[in-house]
Amino acid sequence: MSSYHSQEQMLAQLPEPSVLEIKHSSELIELIVSDIEHNGAMSFYDYMNRILYEPGLGYYSAGTAKFGAAGDFITAPEISPLFGQCLAHQCESIFSQGCSHQLLEFGAGSGRLCEQILSSLTSPVRYSIIEVSADLKVRQQQYLQEKLSPSLFACIEWLEALPEHFNGIMFGNEVLDAMPVNVVLKDGEWQELGVGFDDGRFVWQPYISPNNLTQSDAVNTMLKIEADLVGAGFGPLSEGYCTEINLNYRPWLEALHASCDQAVILMIDYGYEQAQYYHPDRSSGTLTCYYRHRTHPDPFVYPGLQDITAFVDFDAFADAAIAAGFTVSGLTSQRQFLLHNGLLEIAEEVSVTGDTQAQVEVAQQIKTLTLPGEMGERFLVVGLQKDLEIEIKSMTLLTGRR
Ligand SMILES: C[S@@+](CC[C@H](N)C(=O)[O-])C[C@H]1O[C@@H](n2cnc3c(N)ncnc32)[C@H](O)[C@@H]1O
Repeated sequence: MSSYHSQEQMLAQLPEPSVLEIKHSSELIELIVSDIEHNGAMSFYDYMNRILYEPGLGYYSAGTAKFGAAGDFITAPEISPLFGQCLAHQCESIFSQGCSHQLLEFGAGSGRLCEQILSSLTSPVRYSIIEVSADLKVRQQQYLQEKLSPSLFACIEWLEALPEHFNGIMFGNEVLDAMPVNVVLKDGEWQELGVGFDDGRFVWQPYISPNNLTQSDAVNTMLKIEADLVGAGFGPLSEGYCTEINLNYRPWLEALHASCDQAVILMIDYGYEQAQYYHPDRSSGTLTCYYRHRTHPDPFVYPGLQDITAFVDFDAFADAAIAAGFTVSGLTSQRQFLLHNGLLEIAEEVSVTGDTQAQVEVAQQIKTLTLPGEMGERFLVVGLQKDLEIEIKSMTLLTGRR
């Protein structure tokens, strides 16, 4: 949680936005403040949703560069095409076991992952993209039209909503962490924290939902998680513990389940199983903000100009998937996932044809994608299935819970 003093210190360490960017941020602040003035403190879920997705102004909805060196953060497909090549390898293996040849990517970012997968697959597929940001959708279309042959580009369609009777593989990289979360604090009892506005800046305030004067869904969910942790020998959590709850998993997964006939779902993201997520050392939660390749925990800095994310609670995600009707194939680290999907063999082919400089670059990319201190173990891959029995070799059930 940010205090006035620490926010001043935080700002001093970040690069300054331009005058235009400040103006853009002020417009978004004005809209949110007017809402708070009319309705009182807003839930952190609503704040994060508007900061990221407010049409035309939110971080993902407005036209700033986000990915890569010129942006705020870098994701695996931006680091190396090897990432998409390995994912394509996994898709081929799933197709070979009887799954229909259709792909649906959530949150396609710059479009690079789509480019990498379509260029690597040996047989044609129908490739759908669901992208919540209208600005990113246009960028994806421009990028992919430029990079892919007309016949490959013709395989792609952008959908506004989930399809009906989908058969195939749905997947997303770093999409779950971009879903808004609720924030809870243990202050004697668990309470939900929302966002108010005081002395010219956003501040944390207790949040009581206008429609729900008893305990909020986020508090009820936290109480259940804490009881499970205590049952498993971890917890109770200490006084002052502040953390996030993602209430989106269940409705989102129910919608996916309803839209599929037979499907595999693969989601890749940073996160933990529950005992790690709610570890005593993580008493300030997992909110992480990205601004020009600096990370910090203050979601009230530069509204609309920085990305706000929360780590994924993979146990909660798997529980929600089971409740929605999926079977869980398992969980694995990004490192194991890539190594099982031919990372070293694919890299070897690149190295044989490339020059020394290319070989050095590929070696560096492999390190970033797989080393435990880099992305290798911080990122996990979770697999779900509906009405299929596909073996996904890299996946084991890492948790003792199921
Ligand atoms: C951190 S970016 C990751 C982009 C890309 N997958 C990559 O790996 O570079 C998050 C992306 O997810 C999109 N997104 C967030 N929530 C979504 C949802 N519910 N459905 C589809 N896309 C979503 C965002 O607009 C953005 O494109």
